Amino acid sequence: MTTGTTTGPGSARPTGGPVFDRIVRPALFRLGGGDAETAHEWTLRRLAALSRRPAALAVLRARYAVPAPRTVFGVDFPNPVGLAAGMDKDGAALPAWPALGFGFVEVGTVTAHAQPGNPRPRLFRLPGSAAVINRMGFNNAGAAALAARLAALNRPLGVPLGISLGKSKVTELDDAVQDYLTSYRVLNPYGDYFAVNVSSPNTPGLRALQDREHLDGLLAALVGEKPILVKIAPDLTEAAIAEVLEVCLSRGAAGIIATNTTLGRDGLAPADQPRAGEAGGLSGRPLTERTRRVVSFVHTETGGALPVIGVGGILDPTDATALLDAGASLVQLYTGFVYGGPGLVRAVARATRQ
Ligand SMILES: Cc1cc2nc3c(=O)[nH]c(=O)nc-3n(C[C@H](O)[C@H](O)[C@H](O)COP(=O)(O)O)c2cc1C
Repeated sequence: MTTGTTTGPGSARPTGGPVFDRIVRPALFRLGGGDAETAHEWTLRRLAALSRRPAALAVLRARYAVPAPRTVFGVDFPNPVGLAAGMDKDGAALPAWPALGFGFVEVGTVTAHAQPGNPRPRLFRLPGSAAVINRMGFNNAGAAALAARLAALNRPLGVPLGISLGKSKVTELDDAVQDYLTSYRVLNPYGDYFAVNVSSPNTPGLRALQDREHLDGLLAALVGEKPILVKIAPDLTEAAIAEVLEVCLSRGAAGIIATNTTLGRDGLAPADQPRAGEAGGLSGRPLTERTRRVVSFVHTETGGALPVIGVGGILDPTDATALLDAGASLVQLYTGFVYGGPGLVRAVARATRQ
């Protein structure tokens, strides 16, 4: 039996069920001599191959897809549990994600220019803390390549597609609006919503785009036809979040995605301290409580006027229901999927029905 719910709330160790916990995860974590990005690339390749086998997808779908429909910012979601940005940046394995139980998929972050990202190693697991540190730096094949791949998809995905947009590293901050617009224009036909990523800690200066003036310019250029959501950092003060919300409300943004990874290093187990010095954003269990507070603040501050996608530290179903109770309309997983696999996605989707 794989319930995915055998750990208690707030426990460090998530579970994807006995088979995933005892066989699949240990095998994945051994790949590449324990290099996390090797495991990630191997998994994506396997899921991309799976995406070309409709019969295999149907078997997975029967096992993992849980209906829990809801409509948010005018878009219909078969369940409220999404794949967070960064897992499938270039949309390499799109049909696999709904079959693994996700009710929506956010691809990207993509940038107007293709770019390699930071030198490796740049992705680290901290298993004692159910956490990850990454400094990928928006490695991606570029917006035009993603558009071509989406155009070539020959069947509907069956779940909404979000597309996360970021600033190219070579583009100066002052030219950021044009950079986002270039990506948005080429990808516009394919996204059900667009996420404006102004909160990754791994592109120098990017988080300054959360400032009132920059964000106002960005939203003035992007808001229009498709829902535009703004993804914020967990490290903003409440005053800074309130400013972001004011701009979002005045410019007609469709919602907030809270939160991205943190530069903080609180909440790490002693065994993971040697990794704490790695530069980059921390995700997973150390983010759970901070994300819940940010979601609650956004919901209260706007009186529920801006729908929130809650993301950060969902490692078991109760973490997700806590975010929904705090005011989130949808949730997303990244690190939880690394440690809990599709069994966790299913358990979270089931919990959202209760
Ligand atoms: C390896 C990695 C890469 C990520 N890349 C992106 C990205 O490209 N764009 C983005 O908006 N968020 C990115 N994120 C942040 C996640 O989408 C998510 O906001 C964050 O990890 C918190 O959720 P979690 O605790 O479930 O992982 C990335 C996270 C990780 C671990």
